[in-house]
Amino acid sequence: MRIVLLGAPGAGKGTQCKRIVARYGLLHLSSGDILRQERTAGTELGQKAQSYMDSGALVPDEVIVEMMAEAIKKAPQVAFVLDGFPRTVNQAAELDQSLVRDGQRIEAILNLSADDQIVAERLTGRRSCPQCGAVYHVKNLKPKVEGLCDNDGARLIQRPDDHPDVVANRLQTYHQQTEPVVDYYKKTNSVYDIDANKDADEVTVILFENLDALVSV
Ligand code: AP5
Repeated sequence: MRIVLLGAPGAGKGTQCKRIVARYGLLHLSSGDILRQERTAGTELGQKAQSYMDSGALVPDEVIVEMMAEAIKKAPQVAFVLDGFPRTVNQAAELDQSLVRDGQRIEAILNLSADDQIVAERLTGRRSCPQCGAVYHVKNLKPKVEGLCDNDGARLIQRPDDHPDVVANRLQTYHQQTEPVVDYYKKTNSVYDIDANKDADEVTVILFENLDALVSV
């Protein structure tokens, strides 16, 4: 199964991908996570991406397409879920071409739709563990001890791009550049629209129903 999870920043892509991975054993390929790892490692790619990410803009297509093609090629026989990629129509078209060359295709697109105000609250309240990557929320998903990760006790941090002014830019970027990707896929692929305003567990149930049906075909 090769699937794409689309949705606005804060729609819950990362949260739901972890659950999908646990149930279906897919490889989780998150463009945002890979970029953050590159930044932490201080690579040329990470340095190139930094200013775009910090302002809420998209990293240029050519950089991202090459990075994600590499990640997919590292595990050619493995089923995967893409999170945060593709994010422009150009990226989607490049991905299609590269998969076709390798005799593969995307089987389904799960599109998480959520209102701007709801996702803005989720993002500004998100806290993450710098060590294990666990994600929390100051109201919706509190750690057992305030400010500390349940898994390893590390002090939780706020992503620099989760500050309110950057969140507004990210949402604008999403509407202008990423929403058209949904229409691109609707012309050729199965797209499942999921109401992601709901509670995370309710969203998971709907996603699993759709994916179970896909697996049983
Ligand atoms: P990236 O890391 O991909 O960020 P994003 O798409 O903005 O997505 P997020 O990780 O912020 O949100 P999410 O949907 O995963 O939500 P989450 O599950 O964490 O990208 C960062 C930057 O990298 C981009 O701005 C860009 O610069 C660059 N980039 C990345 N990919 C690129 C590409 N392809 N092209 C160009 N540039 C690229 O949930 C958020 C919070 O809400 C959490 O606290 C969670 O606990 C909570 N929550 C989740 N679901 C629910 C729910 N249903 N109800 C209540 N709370 C919930």
